[in-house]
Amino acid sequence: MQRRQLLKSMVSLGAGSLLLNTPFNALAKVNSPQQAVNFKLLFNQALVSHPELIGFANVEDNFQPQVLSIEGVLPKDLVGTFYRNGPAKHERGEARYQHLFEGDGMLQRFTFSDGKIKHQGKFIATPKFQKEQQAQRFLYSGPETIIQQPLPVSNADMINTANTNIIAVGNDLWALWEAGSPTKVDEQTLEYKGQINLGAGGKYQNSLQGLPFSAHPKIEANGDIWNFGLNATGHVVLYHLAANGQVKNVGLINAEYHGGMLHDFLITDKHLLVILPSLNVGHSSDKNRQGLFSRIEFDQNQPMRVLVISKVDLSIQKQYELPAGFAFHYGNAWEEKDGTIRFDASLYANVDVLQNLSNIMQGNMDNANTDAKTVLFTLNPNGTAMRNVMDLNSEFPRICNHLTGLRNQYLYQLSSSHNSLWSDTVCSLNLETGKQDSFDFGKDYQVEEHIIVCPKKVEGTGYLIGTALHVPSKRTCLNVFKADDLASGPMARAWLSHHLPLGFHGNFKHA
Ligand SMILES: [Fe+2]
Repeated sequence: MQRRQLLKSMVSLGAGSLLLNTPFNALAKVNSPQQAVNFKLLFNQALVSHPELIGFANVEDNFQPQVLSIEGVLPKDLVGTFYRNGPAKHERGEARYQHLFEGDGMLQRFTFSDGKIKHQGKFIATPKFQKEQQAQRFLYSGPETIIQQPLPVSNADMINTANTNIIAVGNDLWALWEAGSPTKVDEQTLEYKGQINLGAGGKYQNSLQGLPFSAHPKIEANGDIWNFGLNATGHVVLYHLAANGQVKNVGLINAEYHGGMLHDFLITDKHLLVILPSLNVGHSSDKNRQGLFSRIEFDQNQPMRVLVISKVDLSIQKQYELPAGFAFHYGNAWEEKDGTIRFDASLYANVDVLQNLSNIMQGNMDNANTDAKTVLFTLNPNGTAMRNVMDLNSEFPRICNHLTGLRNQYLYQLSSSHNSLWSDTVCSLNLETGKQDSFDFGKDYQVEEHIIVCPKKVEGTGYLIGTALHVPSKRTCLNVFKADDLASGPMARAWLSHHLPLGFHGNFKHA
C-alpha cells in the first residue's frame, strides 16, 4: 500500500470516525434504564457463600507501599521490578460493572532489592478514572455495562481503562488496553503521564492517534516492538516500533473479521501471525445483556483463520484455515528453515468463558469453570495445517522473553487441578520431550499469571514468578520458583498483609 493511501486509510479509521462503528459508541447511545437488577447486591450476597469470589471484589483505594514478609530465600540474581496490571475499580456508588474486563486498571509493583520485596498498588489515573473519581460515579457505559444517563463517547480513549498489561518502554511504563492508545505511566511514581500519540513527531503525525493498540505486543530480542489493533470495520492495524517506542512502520490489512474481540497475536523471525478465532457479534435476546461481550457468539462452522504477514512490508503472504476454536492467548511461534511455522495456544472449544467472566462478576457461579487446553499447531508450507491437542488445561502461557519469535523448548503456564474458579497450578511443558513439571498450590489458592525471568538468558534456567490469592486468609503472596524445579514448590514466598484483585498480565524489568 502506498504511504499516502495508507495515511488516508488511517485517518478514516482514526479518532474522528473509529467509534462511529464500535460497540462502545452504540452502547453509549442505548437509552436503557440502569441495571434493573442490582448486580452489586447480587455479587456481595454471593461473596458470603462463595468467599473465592473475593478476587473480583471492588478496590476502593491505592495500596500504600509495604515491605513484604518473606518465607524462604530470595535468589541473589533476581533484582529488579515486577509489574502487574488488572481491573480493580469494579463499583462506584450502587453501580457494578457486569464484566471483568471493564474495571479501571490498577498497577501492582513489586520491587526486588537488597534481599527484600516492597509492594505498592496504584490506580492508573486515566482521563476516565479522573473524571469518574471526581464525580464519584461511573460516567460512561462500558463495553458490557450500560449505565444510567451515560456521557457520550466520541473516541475510544475517553473510556480507555488501561487495565490489561504493562510493559517497560524506554524509561516509561506503558499500561495497555486493546481498543485505544497505550497509556504512559511514570516508572518512579506510577503517576499517569498521558495517552500516547504514536505518530507524533514522525511521518505519521496525528494519523495514528486513538487507534486500537492491543495489550499483547511482542518484543523481539533486539528490543523492537510489534503489535496489532482490531478495528470495528474488520481491519487490523499493524505496528512496528523501535525499542524506545518510536514508530518504524505501520500497516493496515483488511482481515474482514467481525468477531468483536481479537486479543493476542504472534511473531516469528520473518512474519506476524494474526489468528482470527471463530467469533461473530450477534444479538442477545436477554434485555439485561445487551453489551458487546454478551453478543459475541461462537460459530462452530467458521474456521479459525491464520493470516501470515510479512514483517518487511506488513502485507498478507499466506492464509491458513484451522478447525473452529477460540483463544485469548498464545505462547510463542517460530519458523523452520523450510517455512514450516509452529505455534501454541491455550485453546477453548467455544467462547463460553467470556460469558462466565460476566457471570462471576454478577455473583452467578453456575458453570464458572471453563478450561482451555494447550494445543500445538503446525502450518505447513503446502498450505495444510495440523494440530496436536495436549491433555493439559492451560491459560496465560509465557516463554523466555529473549526467544520471542524463535524456537522455544519450554512453555510456562497456569493450569487447574481442582476445577477451580481461577487457576491453582503452575506448570512447565517441555515441547521437545513432552515432560511436564508442576506445582499445585491447593484448592485454597487462586493463582495468577506467572512469568519466566531468565537473568542468564539461558532457556530452562531462571525463575518463575507470580502472585496467588490465598482465599481463607484473604492475603496475596508473590511466589518465586526455580524454573527447572517447580514441583518442589516456591523457593521464596512473600506475603502482603491483604489481598489484591485478580489481574491479568505483568512483566519483570531487570535493575
Ligand atoms: Fe491477555
